[in-house]
Amino acid sequence: MNTAVLIGTVFDSQLPHPFSVVWVGLIGTTSIRELRLQVPWYGVVYNHVTFALAGFAASSVIAITAATVREDDPLGIVAQIALAGTTFTLLNASLAIAAASIRTGVPLRRVWALSVPNVGLGVLAQVPLGWLMAVIAIKVGIWATILFAVPLFLARYTFNRYVEVRELFLGSVSALSQAIDAKDGYTRGHADRVSRIAGAIAREVGLSESEIENIELAGMLHDIGKIGVEDRILLKPARLDLEEVDAMQRHPIYGASILEPSRQLRPLVPIVLHHHEHYDGSGYPEGLIGDEIPIGSRILLVADAYEAMTSDRIYRKAIGHEGALQQLNKYKGIQFDPKLVRTFERVLEKRGVAAFEASDLPPITYETLAEVRRRLTREPKAREPSHAG
Ligand SMILES: [Fe+2]
Repeated sequence: MNTAVLIGTVFDSQLPHPFSVVWVGLIGTTSIRELRLQVPWYGVVYNHVTFALAGFAASSVIAITAATVREDDPLGIVAQIALAGTTFTLLNASLAIAAASIRTGVPLRRVWALSVPNVGLGVLAQVPLGWLMAVIAIKVGIWATILFAVPLFLARYTFNRYVEVRELFLGSVSALSQAIDAKDGYTRGHADRVSRIAGAIAREVGLSESEIENIELAGMLHDIGKIGVEDRILLKPARLDLEEVDAMQRHPIYGASILEPSRQLRPLVPIVLHHHEHYDGSGYPEGLIGDEIPIGSRILLVADAYEAMTSDRIYRKAIGHEGALQQLNKYKGIQFDPKLVRTFERVLEKRGVAAFEASDLPPITYETLAEVRRRLTREPKAREPSHAG
C-alpha cells in the first residue's frame, strides 16, 4: 500500500526533489509488520533502501524528461508517467525478487515468473494511482488523498485473498498426494520426492516455469487413479494375474478422469494419462512412442522409477542410488527417454544425490485408538474444551 504513496511523492512537483522521495522511501514506507518487529533488521534496511533507490530513479527520469514535456501535451505526460513508472517497477521488483530468491533458496527465474504477473503488475497498477494522488494533492489539497485509502485497502485485501487461495490449492494437492501414498502402501513423501525430482529435470531441460509447475503438480498426483484400484490388487505381495494387471493398468485412465473436471488441474491430464508410456511404445494406456509421449510424462517416468528404486517399500528394499542409475541406463531407449536419463544424471552431478534423498515432510505415525486414549489420559490438556462433550 505504501508504494502508491511513494509513487505519489515522485510525481508531486511541489516537493523538493530528489531529497523528498528518498526520505519518503526511507521512512514513509515503514509497514505495520516492521513496527511489530516481525521483519529482521536487515530486511527492513533492504526494503527501505530498495524503495528509496526506485523512487530516486523514477524521480530522476521525471527530472531528465521535464524539459521535453509541455503541460498541455497529454501524450507527453502519459509517456513520462509510463517511463517513470516502469523504471520504478523494474528496479523495485528486481531488487525484491533477488532478495526473495536468496532468502527462500528458490531459483531467481521461478520467483521472477511467479512475481511478475502478480506483484509486478500490482506495483505497475499503482503508478497511475500515485500520479492521480499527486495531482489531487496539488489541486485539491493533501487531505483529499486520504480517500485513496479505500481502493488501496481493497487491492491489498484482494492480494491477500489470492495468496490464501494459492496456499489452499497447494495444501490440498499435497494432502491429496499423501492420501494416495498411504493408500498405495508407500512410505510418506513418495509423491513429494517424485514431484521434486521431476521439477528439477524439467528445469534442467529448460521448460517454462508454468510447464515446470504443472509437471511438479502432476508428480504429486500422478497415481491419483489408484483410488479406483482395489486394495487386494494394489497391495498384493505376489505376482498379479492377467485380469489384475489389466485393473492395475487402468489407473492412469482413472487419474485423468478424476482431474479432468477441474479447470486448474486440467493441464495435468495428459501428463498423468501417459505416465506409464514407454519410449519404445511398449507402455500403456495408448502405447505412444518416443516424442509422441508428452515430455512431462517422460520426465515423470524417470523420476518415479528412480524414486521407487531408492526408497524402501513394504515388499522390497531399496537398491540404492548407483543401482538405480544402472537400471535407468539399462532401460534407456526402451522404457526411458535417453536424453532425459542423461539430463537427470546432470541434475544429480550438479545438486548431489542428497538433494533428493528424503522428503521434507515428517514421517507419518498413525496412532492406534488405544494409543490415542492413553496419550489423552497422560496429557488431558491436549483436549480442546469445545470437544469435551
Ligand atoms: Fe502410476
